[in-house]
Amino acid sequence: MPAQTSLGRALSQAREHTDELFGLVRPDSLYDRPIAERHRIIFYIGHLEAFDWNLIARYALDKASFHPTFDGLFAFGIDPPPGKLPADQPPDWPALSEVERYNRRTRDEIDELLDHVPEQLLHVALEHRLMHAETFAYILHNLAHERKIAPFLAPPAARPAPSGARFVAIPAGDARLGLDDRDAFGWDNEFGAHTVPVAAFSVARNKVTNGDYLAFVREGAAPPFFWTDRAGRWFYRGMFSEYPLPLECPVYVTHDEAQAYARWRGMRLPTEAEFHRAALAAPAPEAGTDNFDFHHWDPVPVSGSGEHAAQLTGNGWEWTSTPFAPFPGFEPFPFYRNYSEPFFDGQHYVLKGASPRTAACFARPSFRNWFRPQYPYLYATFRLVEG
Ligand code: AVJ
Repeated sequence: MPAQTSLGRALSQAREHTDELFGLVRPDSLYDRPIAERHRIIFYIGHLEAFDWNLIARYALDKASFHPTFDGLFAFGIDPPPGKLPADQPPDWPALSEVERYNRRTRDEIDELLDHVPEQLLHVALEHRLMHAETFAYILHNLAHERKIAPFLAPPAARPAPSGARFVAIPAGDARLGLDDRDAFGWDNEFGAHTVPVAAFSVARNKVTNGDYLAFVREGAAPPFFWTDRAGRWFYRGMFSEYPLPLECPVYVTHDEAQAYARWRGMRLPTEAEFHRAALAAPAPEAGTDNFDFHHWDPVPVSGSGEHAAQLTGNGWEWTSTPFAPFPGFEPFPFYRNYSEPFFDGQHYVLKGASPRTAACFARPSFRNWFRPQYPYLYATFRLVEG
């Protein structure tokens, strides 16, 4: 089977997935902006198709545009610095029916072109869409529960907190970062394989839990963004309902909160290279047990009780102390120069691993995520390091 065929199939599955996600929004909420620093929901409905169109039809194959206004309107997301919020209003955006018409035509035309598209660009379109499946999930997380349509969901099972040794010793050695195989797909910032010497350290077997973090809040720390105080009791604001704070689940926090907690405990966050060392020693991630690839909407309890750090890839991205920066020899993709480079600004930190809403393809060790240190919306956790 030619690679284009399997990638084409993966693209249509990803389209079904993102269509289902948009279907969770009540029609009267499509022009809402659940997160002040991001676009209104309607933008994302047009964005996925405009991105594919601009990349595949326009850039790669030089097709004539059938709707230049939408190609531009839906081309780019936003990442404003603190205090610079967007001010557009719902009437600034086109009607859903027009966007849907644009999307249908885009899909039809792209499907006709698939055999002529370089494989790398199909990967970019596919992974871009799957990244947005996550971005859109955490945006939707902030739409009021009554403004979305919940699928049937079994309540999360409670599990006793694991016992046993809480830290795992990682000996001194080299971390291998980056991709060297130019035939494998990776984003621009993953290339430039290199080794980094790492001193011995100890890593927590589990991510820091809500229960752990509660002790810090009781000492006066601000509560995390995903918590709500109801008459003196803490609740977790889940995707489709609010429930009593699950003490045994990882806590979602900003980088600043993670760092403050680690300092309070006399410890620190791992570097990106230390995360790689810890992951090298751990078993391969499994989607069914480690909580990534869309099996759950919210965190599951931490599970590590063995000799390794557990759930390194799943159940929440993990903040590192490493500012997002290029690997040696970095070259932006010529067809997408702004994917990484604008964010090498010292204002973004690397996250590793995966969240419940991260697609399986991003479980590869070289994948790097990044966000601002005070951005509270994403599904980001952390684990402690000593030494
Ligand atoms: C790689 C997740 C940080 O969401 O800002 C999507 C991905 N870039 N469209 C983001 C992205 C352009 C990006 N992250």
